[in-house]
Amino acid sequence: MDLQNFDIDQFLREYWQKKPLLIRNAFRDWQNPLEPNELAGLACEEEIESRLICQTDAGWEMEQGPLAEERLSGLHESHWTLLVQAVDHHVPAVADLIAPFRFIPNWRIDDVMVSLAADQGGVGPHFDQYDVFLIQGLGRRRWQIGGHCDADTLLLEHADLKLLSQFEVTEEWVLEPGDVLYVPPGIAHNGVAVGSDCMTYSVGFRAPSRADLLGHYVDDVLDGIPDDELYRDPGLTAQANAGEILPEALARLQQMVLESLSDPAHFARWFGTFNSTPKYPDMDWRPEVPVEADEVREAIAASVPLSRNPASRLAFVTTDADALMLFADGVCFDCHGETAALAKDLCAADSVVLDVEMAGNAAAIDLLTQLCNNGCIAFDSED
Ligand code: SIN
Ligand code: CO
Repeated sequence: MDLQNFDIDQFLREYWQKKPLLIRNAFRDWQNPLEPNELAGLACEEEIESRLICQTDAGWEMEQGPLAEERLSGLHESHWTLLVQAVDHHVPAVADLIAPFRFIPNWRIDDVMVSLAADQGGVGPHFDQYDVFLIQGLGRRRWQIGGHCDADTLLLEHADLKLLSQFEVTEEWVLEPGDVLYVPPGIAHNGVAVGSDCMTYSVGFRAPSRADLLGHYVDDVLDGIPDDELYRDPGLTAQANAGEILPEALARLQQMVLESLSDPAHFARWFGTFNSTPKYPDMDWRPEVPVEADEVREAIAASVPLSRNPASRLAFVTTDADALMLFADGVCFDCHGETAALAKDLCAADSVVLDVEMAGNAAAIDLLTQLCNNGCIAFDSED
């Protein structure tokens, strides 16, 4: 499924992380991949994150899921929105909505949130930290766009919701099924359903914060540092005021910190592992009985398609002409030659049929067996 009425290079140059873009009729033959009642069903499930937001005379109210069926069937005619997180992990047809946006690297892609709103329903004017493509799936929604926001932007006092206390609309559109609105981080926006059964699919992105990078990387570096590496000053000379910490001492101290953090190979291995750690580890594809190498060999020889767990995070970093580090759900695998080529194929497509020759490659079989047993991939069953 490719996007139409859309130029990838122009989008990346002029809009990505910069300004909103409306793409009318973005899909050739738009089909809403999920029914409203199916989404409501997901919101009742224990392991799926969901929220219900209602606008009442008393103000905005938020209820955390899982929601009771009676709660959902007893809702008013208007002014509510149901939001379900990471629906792509559970519904393959929703996972397929990410494919047209894979011109952005996988490691930046988060998941697909789906909302269902009654007439006038919305989550209120707000801004997000992350880029998002808002796909109008069913029904119509009026989107209003405002200015740039940041940590200093004034918010309404609310225990659960971060709503803007002021929202000046700069642009406004009513989206129809198949229309897409891109909103970059920090831009105020407000979507209000026009009529009932309004479904919006948010293909969301992620970006690590400086605080997260530093905090987690330092923890990792600390694991490998011996306790006996102390500051030394063999060239010490007498100083006029014993109370001063001299610039040369500070420089050596700071150098001790910086040189521990500056190894690119260590950083690459750590970042890939950190970034591929799943957000929702509940989507468990691990087989009840561990898969044996022989079964993997037989499945390859029989050309059984291999699928990626939609909740799994896979990425690779090239280390040499024919070598790479494959990161799969927080585990790093060093791969060479044909196994490296196989790792690239697994990262590039949701489903692959392997070359039958691969059944004779011990390193590849070992990698696939471990990935199956970690629940990152599975050979498709016949039913
Ligand atoms: C929605 O789908 O109603 C909300 C999405 C958003 O504004 O981020
Ligand atoms: Co938003």
